[in-house]
Amino acid sequence: MYALKKLEYKTIIHEYNSAEELSAGDRQLIQMAKEATAEAYAPYSNFYVGAALRLDNGTCVIGNNQENIAYPSGLCAERVAVFAASAQYPGIAFNTIAITAKSNDFIVDNPVTPCGSCRQVLAEYEHLYSKPIRIILCGAKGKVLVIDKVEDILPFSFRADKLKK
Ligand code: THU
Repeated sequence: MYALKKLEYKTIIHEYNSAEELSAGDRQLIQMAKEATAEAYAPYSNFYVGAALRLDNGTCVIGNNQENIAYPSGLCAERVAVFAASAQYPGIAFNTIAITAKSNDFIVDNPVTPCGSCRQVLAEYEHLYSKPIRIILCGAKGKVLVIDKVEDILPFSFRADKLKK
């Protein structure tokens, strides 16, 4: 049986050896994410994640993972930042999010990529504002990955507008 058509999605990820190759604004956002990482509340996993989100009006909002003894009650850094930004600056589109991570138990060499739930949450705001959200992922050894839009790492996401009349 042949399908009527085949849908293919392409993911483009830009890899840099160092944050020095990025703009001053991007480097500042990475620095904010690193500072947020250091303040994460992660006593159960010892895995600290920080996120810094720049809005279209230039404001930056940070988030870090917040854990809880009732494990599923905790929240990832990305969603802490995104929900805080949406609560404090409703109607302002998101421009760029930088994400960094650190562990007490091992060196987080490679950039940490956002989990599926965080991608879904980011995708909704990207779609809501019809504006791509850039994602900057920074590893401990300096390697940086830049993704142009959330859709690139979550193609075919569940869309809120499908539920709207
Ligand atoms: N975590 C994040 O904050 N962001 C991610 O994208 C993946 C995981 C947090 C959740 C938990 O507090 C810890 O990392 C270990 O999974």
